[in-house]
Amino acid sequence: MTTALITGSTAGIGAAFARRLAADGHNLVLVARDTKRLREQATELHDRHGIEAEVLTADLATDQGIETAAARLADRRDPIDLLINNAGFGNKGRYLDVSMDDELKMIKVHCEAVLRLTSAAAGAMRERGRGGIVNVASVAAFVPRGTYGASKAWVVQFTQGAARDLAGSGVRLMALCPGFVRTEFHERAGMGTDNIPGWMWLDADKLVASGLADLARGKTVSIPDARYKVLMGVTKVVPRGMLGAVTSRTGRKYGPQ
Ligand SMILES: NC(=O)c1ccc[n+]([C@@H]2O[C@H](COP(=O)([O-])OP(=O)(O)OC[C@H]3O[C@@H](n4cnc5c(N)ncnc54)[C@H](OP(=O)(O)O)[C@@H]3O)[C@@H](O)[C@H]2O)c1
Repeated sequence: MTTALITGSTAGIGAAFARRLAADGHNLVLVARDTKRLREQATELHDRHGIEAEVLTADLATDQGIETAAARLADRRDPIDLLINNAGFGNKGRYLDVSMDDELKMIKVHCEAVLRLTSAAAGAMRERGRGGIVNVASVAAFVPRGTYGASKAWVVQFTQGAARDLAGSGVRLMALCPGFVRTEFHERAGMGTDNIPGWMWLDADKLVASGLADLARGKTVSIPDARYKVLMGVTKVVPRGMLGAVTSRTGRKYGPQ
């Protein structure tokens, strides 16, 4: 039986990964900050699918949280076969409206934690000659969209570079780039979503199925869904200034501070 570790497993895209991987018979290590919610999720997945689900409470915006998760990934006695670096969030507001603390927290969770957890997992996987790592980025990586887009661009570049460096080692790395998905993300960030057209919303379960299929195919960047493949193709030919005017507005309507 193989084991997958999912960060940000308790909601949205991470919870969809947990449901799908449990249904496929993988044991799970569930990582997030809310222990009660993690325990409830572990019990439900164990009862429904008969898999073992371990709970790891860790705040990936802290060194201690990152170290806890990295130590579990590096444990050679109880190896992790698949890492899903999914935990993430949006900040409420545009550049200069967001405090420096919150900007840095985003870089810590989206970039530093992803670097350190990927490295802890990839080192152990390379020794065994097999393993997979999915780093959840965003289509925001390809368009101007504040620190969020910049941090996700780092995830894509880092993952592609690491995948190339580890080619032939048996370790697969892939950046998953979703468009808008209905999760807790927008509410947590205080973002209004009524200016996002209905056709732009993706289903988390379908997104995960398509991402895992792309990982199996050996892709290093996955943009699930034809709608977003077309959109991302268009972004390559539209002038950057015009692109920024549209993408920096879409889905960035914030409630009162
Ligand atoms: N929803 C979208 O439209 C969308 C689009 C593109 C990309 N993404 C990306 O997809 C990923 C998942 O987002 P989502 O939409 O599923 O969000 P979500 O529904 O808000 O879930 C976020 C998950 O991450 C955990 N988390 C947040 N901060 C954490 C921290 N500091 N340490 C550990 N765990 C933390 C949360 O649990 P706790 O609060 O208990 O820690 C929760 O399990 C993110 O990386 C996001 O950037 C989302």
